[in-house]
Amino acid sequence: MNIIIVGATSGLGYETAKIYLEKGYNVGLAGRRVERLSELQSLYPNTCYIEKIDVTKEESIEALESLIDQMGGMDLFFLSSGVGKQNRSLEADIEMNTVATNVEGFTRMMIFTFNYFSKREKGHIAAISSIAGTKGIGISASYSATKRFQNTYMEALEQLARGRKLDITFTDIRPGFVDTDLLADRNYPMLMNVEKTAKQIVKSIESKKRVVIVDYRYKMLVGLWRLIPKKLWVRIKL
Ligand SMILES: NC(=O)c1ccc[n+]([C@@H]2O[C@H](COP(=O)([O-])OP(=O)(O)OC[C@H]3O[C@@H](n4cnc5c(N)ncnc54)[C@H](OP(=O)(O)O)[C@@H]3O)[C@@H](O)[C@H]2O)c1
Repeated sequence: MNIIIVGATSGLGYETAKIYLEKGYNVGLAGRRVERLSELQSLYPNTCYIEKIDVTKEESIEALESLIDQMGGMDLFFLSSGVGKQNRSLEADIEMNTVATNVEGFTRMMIFTFNYFSKREKGHIAAISSIAGTKGIGISASYSATKRFQNTYMEALEQLARGRKLDITFTDIRPGFVDTDLLADRNYPMLMNVEKTAKQIVKSIESKKRVVIVDYRYKMLVGLWRLIPKKLWVRIKL
């Protein structure tokens, strides 16, 4: 099986890459800081392929195509790219960069991958969104909104695929707080270990889950969170 992971240079993408390489799959890895991937490539010279990809740039599609060509095809596309910061003061550059990566970049990757798998009439698209898309979060407006966009976009693509009778699987992974660079700026409660979370992600992808909240504690939390009435939610001070 040929797997491509975009956003593999750190955190959850990097840890899932290690698992897939250990399992013996052909794995294509991408991100902007490709130098971070050279150690993995030297450990797995025959099965690890790397390419520099910035999802916010149009030329990322050419780079993705080149990665697929080097590998002789793609069966699973896993998008782990994402940015997110708390932004209480609503600084415009943080908001716009989050939208550029998590919405524009995400959509660019999804369009290409959906069309690629449509031609083959089968494939698997997995992406890490977040539990943050459950409701709008005032101190992380762009992050929560872009993650909700990702949830909805994958749902829409699934409907498109079913309508065309394409055998494309979608897995939307929604973790709670994980100890990665993304959260390095602050202390967060219920922080999950990155290696353990990556294992759970791989398991969910292998069992072709449609939507998965990681872990069970966050699943319960999201269940309760959804019950909070809108009128009350917008009055909660975070
Ligand atoms: N950590 C958490 O608590 C948490 C919770 C829920 C969801 N998530 C989601 O999980 C995903 C992975 O995040 P992480 O926690 O593993 O954080 P991370 O260590 O910061 O990883 C983020 C990855 O995204 C890549 N990326 C960022 N901008 C990119 C761009 N323009 N083009 C290509 N790749 C880009 C980074 O690579 P380069 O910088 O090298 O390009 C890096 O590999 C994100 O979508 C995040 O929103 C994280």
